[in-house]
Amino acid sequence: MSTDTLNALVPPGASTTDRDWWRQAVVYQVYPRSFADGNGDGIGDLTGLRSRVPYLTELGIDAVWLSPFYPSALADGGYDVADYRDVDPRIGTLEDFDGLVAALHAEGIRLIVDIVPNHSSDQHPWFQEALASPRGSAARERYIFRDGKGEDGELPPADWPSTFGGPGWTRVADGQWYLHTFAKEQPDWNWDNPEVREDFLTTLRFWADRGVDGFRVDVAQLLVKDLPAELPSWDELQAMDADHGTHPLQDRDELQDVYAQWREVFEEYDTPRVAVAEAHVSTPERRARYASSASLGQAFNFDLMWADFDASSFRSVVEADLEQSARTGSSSTWVLSNHDATRHATRYGLPPAADTGRKAGTAWMLEGAPRAGVDLQLGTRRARAATLFLLGLPGSAYLYQGEELGLHEVGDIPADARQDPAFLRCVETQEWSHDGLGRDGCRVPLPWTSEGPSFGFGTGSAHLPQPAWFAQYSVEAEQADPGSTLSLYRRALRLRHKLQTSETLEWLETGHEDVLRFRRPNGWEIVTNFGTEPVALPTGQFVLASDPIEDQLPGATTVWLRSES
Ligand code: NOJ
Ligand code: CA
Repeated sequence: MSTDTLNALVPPGASTTDRDWWRQAVVYQVYPRSFADGNGDGIGDLTGLRSRVPYLTELGIDAVWLSPFYPSALADGGYDVADYRDVDPRIGTLEDFDGLVAALHAEGIRLIVDIVPNHSSDQHPWFQEALASPRGSAARERYIFRDGKGEDGELPPADWPSTFGGPGWTRVADGQWYLHTFAKEQPDWNWDNPEVREDFLTTLRFWADRGVDGFRVDVAQLLVKDLPAELPSWDELQAMDADHGTHPLQDRDELQDVYAQWREVFEEYDTPRVAVAEAHVSTPERRARYASSASLGQAFNFDLMWADFDASSFRSVVEADLEQSARTGSSSTWVLSNHDATRHATRYGLPPAADTGRKAGTAWMLEGAPRAGVDLQLGTRRARAATLFLLGLPGSAYLYQGEELGLHEVGDIPADARQDPAFLRCVETQEWSHDGLGRDGCRVPLPWTSEGPSFGFGTGSAHLPQPAWFAQYSVEAEQADPGSTLSLYRRALRLRHKLQTSETLEWLETGHEDVLRFRRPNGWEIVTNFGTEPVALPTGQFVLASDPIEDQLPGATTVWLRSES
């Protein structure tokens, strides 16, 4: 298929002027190796995904965000990219990709792909070339190589740890060391190198030319570094100010020059391509830089994901973010789950983070037995309520595959079946490890049917083992049940379009500290009871509720009402 033909495949009904399609979009994240397996080899692929486009249509989403599908040695679930402009042969071909774009666009669903610019895979031809080239060579300059310390350079250039545990510098055959913020198979690019910058522009155009509508930018706050000859120690780095764009390793002001160039590429297209930054920065003000229309345009707000199920936490996150978005001209991004976090149905069944010392959002405690201390029923109920609260908000909603089934985290994956470097190498860093378990538990292949090998994920077994209880969460089981979480998501997403006439909300008094209530400009009210005791229902015509209600609003329940005033 020619590039011209591909460019012509814009979603039906989408005018070329609807450059704002993303502002209130529902974006569904697909982790491709675990979504649907088209050829029965146990690994999800593009054919499988394409065969499930009718499911996505029925669900009512606006866009798919596809996590990395590029050739990769899978040292970090595909976030170690060996070739930015191809498809992993285990996942499919470029032709399959084009077919997927066409199939999604035919249904009016946009496609966002993941770009991983801080690091490549150690299998990337440029890293292999760097290894084969002498110190000081142009090939080494594309990455961050340094001589070591000690008499023979046998000590790393600095004592920095990698995010997944272990040292952040690895020694190569001729004695030099390279920097890797993540696993040792993920060498950091040198963003001072013009060739690296140019190559990413080529990559962005490559996918945009194939009809991709936007990009999710991995660890967007890293990339550009300022590394003096004498490197600071880790303790010194921790003590440095990260709020003013001058920290040596993260969120540097010059980074915005990179994104300004990317913005020029996005604007070459009609409709302009969009981007959303995964930017872990110190303040909402710093996040706003990534969300500006001169930069990436949108930035994830993970604050709801880190919050306990609690009215005042939810309200303060929402207020702060709406205010920030209004100031930058971007729109809010609401997230409860993704491929890096413990599924929210499970998180909400845990005791509050503050009471247990666990890190909010990331942890699900495993005191000997899987699922110890998790109230699954409560977690499910709260998850449904939180989702309906989130879908009632102005801004865009990012959903993670399987949350529409109410899936829980899988806790009991045997150690020898686990794949996540955060589990395999990161006993000491709690940040990414979910208290030692890693992220595989939210990446288990989806159950499509209640029986059969891999519950309909494929015709063979799945690359991560699925538990028996997946049967009751299968798409097949849930679509037959009007009370299921899937049925709730479908109804909510259909109705949500009626809320998207404007991007504002008005908070209303409830008289209960556990209850939040807001009105949208179309007259609908969203009321969530975060507590345990039922409260009186505000008057209004019933639209939808996260669980059955009668004359009162029970605890852990959200209702959408059409106000009578
Ligand atoms: C963030 C991604 O979401 C995560 O899965 C990955 O491990 C790191 N970035 C490194 O690319
Ligand atoms: Ca497959």
